[in-house]
Amino acid sequence: MTGGAAISRRALLAAGAAFGAGAVLAPARTGLARVPVPFEPTRRLTLAAGEMAWQLPGAGAPSRVYAYDGELFRQIRVPRGTRLEARFANGLSEGSTVHFHGIRMPNEFDGVPTLTQPLVEPGGGFTYRIPLDDPGTFFFHPHCDETGQAGRGLAGVLIVEDPRDPTFDVEHVLCLKDWRIDDAGGFLPMSEPDGAAKAGTFGATRTVNGRAHLDLSAPAGGDVRLRILNLDSTRIMDIGVEGAEAWLIAVDGHALPPLPMDKLPDGIWRMGPAQRIDVQVRMPRDGAPVTVSDYRASDVFTFATISAEGRARGPRRRGPLALPPPKLPLPDLKTVEFHSFTLQQATDAAVRDTGLSPDDPLAKALIDSLCVGGATYWAIAQQSWPTGEQRHLPPPLARMEAGKSYRIEIKNETRYPHPVHLHGHAFAVLSSSKGRLPKHFADTVLTQPGEAVEIAFVAAPGDWVFHCHILEHMETGMMGWFRVI
Ligand code: C2O
Ligand code: CU
Repeated sequence: MTGGAAISRRALLAAGAAFGAGAVLAPARTGLARVPVPFEPTRRLTLAAGEMAWQLPGAGAPSRVYAYDGELFRQIRVPRGTRLEARFANGLSEGSTVHFHGIRMPNEFDGVPTLTQPLVEPGGGFTYRIPLDDPGTFFFHPHCDETGQAGRGLAGVLIVEDPRDPTFDVEHVLCLKDWRIDDAGGFLPMSEPDGAAKAGTFGATRTVNGRAHLDLSAPAGGDVRLRILNLDSTRIMDIGVEGAEAWLIAVDGHALPPLPMDKLPDGIWRMGPAQRIDVQVRMPRDGAPVTVSDYRASDVFTFATISAEGRARGPRRRGPLALPPPKLPLPDLKTVEFHSFTLQQATDAAVRDTGLSPDDPLAKALIDSLCVGGATYWAIAQQSWPTGEQRHLPPPLARMEAGKSYRIEIKNETRYPHPVHLHGHAFAVLSSSKGRLPKHFADTVLTQPGEAVEIAFVAAPGDWVFHCHILEHMETGMMGWFRVI
């Protein structure tokens, strides 16, 4: 690539076609032999991405949101062990893919355009074959122009049920997401440079399941399972429950020994974009309402009120209903190989110059075809994911061996928190330098400014991206990858 302002619009158009074919980013696949694995689907479905009208709270008119199959945050519920065959159909006017977040699966279905599959063009499709062996609360979302597509709501919930789970009296799924809309319901720009380079660009319209608030009910004295998903692109939330005994029973889908919510620091669980928790609420016996809120902003956002119905029957229940412990590959901490990666601001200012102005439709088309942002603000270990004119896939952050255990230190040397996600694995969160985190399994871990968090996992074969899940940070450089052979 010569690039720069000297390049003609025609040359760019031609180059754009080549980029669209995924020719530039495709890494050498040498060494990644594809071993055909027999896959007998036990559940088949289609996932058709498209636009639809949805009335958001406070907006003068319905917004044109994105959804799968015409259902905002479409919910898929399957038993553990399901072999899911999902036929994605792209009804959007731009390229997309589907990433099943947090699922351990063959790399070729991971949904990262150019790295694991070609971008699915408008009108095109792709079939994902996903083994669902880990029970829990998961979700799926596009992995191209995520600020735009997820910003407009494109995401679905994937619940993998475990027949061994204790029985709750009632269960509610709560999808938290803010929207960047104007008074008339039209979308505002999803990203502003000042947000992308800092804490992110926030939406002002806060919702749960696309509404301002949920009024829920549960039997008095009964046990409620809340599956709470942070599907926002930007916002970090402090989730707490008031008016009832409550326990944190799973993080990112994976069970942990129940932790009383009021024993957590400040009585909240802090979670960034893409993180999920399961919370058990034991309803009071006297009918008083229970509230579930995000306490992080000065303006507390109470997104659900649960009213106790009827009169409590039977004896008072004691202690939480623990979920069965997860069955995940356990890293061998004696033989583990150590790596340390620093999250940082991008140091090379030169890559910000894209030659064309970023709002030039041609520049935009080029950039969209590669699913990259137009500016570089962030880096991991001094490398930035391609943005704007810098189109070369950086070398892997680490080369790993399949089946071997790795301990990774993630050091946040920026002034902002970053929820860091590793594709295709469930990792053990071992420690936080701030002593903030209990031991648990997760697929995304929040790192605070100045904090170092350690995770460990058994590497699975493939090319797996490792990125911040504040979508603007990911799109402006905070993404790298591991090659596991
Ligand atoms: Cu939900 Cu690449 O992530
Ligand atoms: Cu970030």
